[in-house]
Amino acid sequence: QQTGRLRHRHVLVTAGGTRERIDPVRFISNDSSGKMGYAIATAAANEGADVTLVSSTTALTAPAGVEIVHVAGAKEMLNQMQQRLDQQDAVIMAAAVADFRPVEEAAQKIKKTADNDTMIIKLTKNPDILKTLATQKTKQIMVGFAAETQHLLANAQHKLTDKKLDMLVANDVSRKDIGFNADNNQVVILRPNQEPEKLPIMAKSELAAKLIDRVVTLLPGK
Ligand code: C5P
Repeated sequence: QQTGRLRHRHVLVTAGGTRERIDPVRFISNDSSGKMGYAIATAAANEGADVTLVSSTTALTAPAGVEIVHVAGAKEMLNQMQQRLDQQDAVIMAAAVADFRPVEEAAQKIKKTADNDTMIIKLTKNPDILKTLATQKTKQIMVGFAAETQHLLANAQHKLTDKKLDMLVANDVSRKDIGFNADNNQVVILRPNQEPEKLPIMAKSELAAKLIDRVVTLLPGK
């Protein structure tokens, strides 16, 4: 259903687990499929927004009418987002950003040798994209996700405050029927100074439309 409530608005969405390169044929990543982020990009486009989807997954088809920017690691994702932040009205960060990346990316495929039964890959912390953008933003509504396996509400509440977000979408990824790679999701929406809003289990497409609904109400001039 198209109501055009985001016409002339720019929305930046991220999706997928970042891929942190070890060498030309290997990377470190996580179980995020990107489905939630792609569903959000679709929902925003359905409302008439100009949507840019910064994606670290290549497995899904870009939604119609959405500009897609493919990235691999967190540093590249941050860079692409910083270049576009100024024009945005809302930033929705559904990507599962890897906390760490290899200190060095080997230029050639790392070979196993007869005398080495173990190997060590040294990791360094990735930048927190949301936190970095929060220091550079002007008017943008910032939305984050929290995928947790325990203490869902407490961890989510901390992230809402710590990352200075306008909205945080928390989901329990210890359950197989919702969260990573599932087609359904069940979340709790947190907002500063408001009671948590627990939504029932629903299709990611339906949830995406609901989240975009909330974003519409948060935008100034609405
Ligand atoms: O800290 P955690 O990874 O659980 O935070 C989740 C939220 O923060 C998500 O919206 C995620 O996209 C974002 N994030 C980020 N940069 C990171 C790690 C997470 O923007 N390095």
